[in-house]
Amino acid sequence: MARLPQLQNCYTFIDLGCGTGTILAALHRAKPQAKLTGVEYNPKIFKLAQWRTTWWKNKPDLHCTDMFTWDISQYDAIVGWWVPKFCAQLVPKLIQEVKPSCVMVCYMFPLPKHPALHEQIIPAGHHNIYVYTKVQSHQLNPNTTGSK
Ligand SMILES: C[S@@+](CC[C@H](N)C(=O)[O-])C[C@H]1O[C@@H](n2cnc3c(N)ncnc32)[C@H](O)[C@@H]1O
Repeated sequence: MARLPQLQNCYTFIDLGCGTGTILAALHRAKPQAKLTGVEYNPKIFKLAQWRTTWWKNKPDLHCTDMFTWDISQYDAIVGWWVPKFCAQLVPKLIQEVKPSCVMVCYMFPLPKHPALHEQIIPAGHHNIYVYTKVQSHQLNPNTTGSK
């Protein structure tokens, strides 16, 4: 995931639900200059992520909090490994908050289809990686958005 060409021009990354920091570790290896942030609401798992990243040269900014309340408007890329329930809950937040150039990447489970999201499917071993960008409002098909 970390070496996807779609992420080539991204500098600020957030892993929503960063767990113990596996995706962050891959990003840290692939993009040593990147500014990484992780949000994890389980305090025990959060501690493990803190411990894992202690000695990293470019330490990520970690927060023990709910990803649904975190401001995601400033990131170049949003990554995650979300179960389908969270994918569905995240879509409105992603569409509403991310900046137009933001690249959204999820591992294993796709986001539910939405006219405001352009999807690319990248096969990666046994699972896929799903890459999304926001469809600009002038590109939206009025027949699929319900507007006149
Ligand atoms: C499948 S794991 C993600 C693994 C992680 N990305 C990694 O690289 O190791 C999903 C994580 O999301 C966390 N999580 C679930 N709901 C959350 C929420 N509302 N806010 C923050 N973290 C959440 C879980 O505690 C779990 O650690």
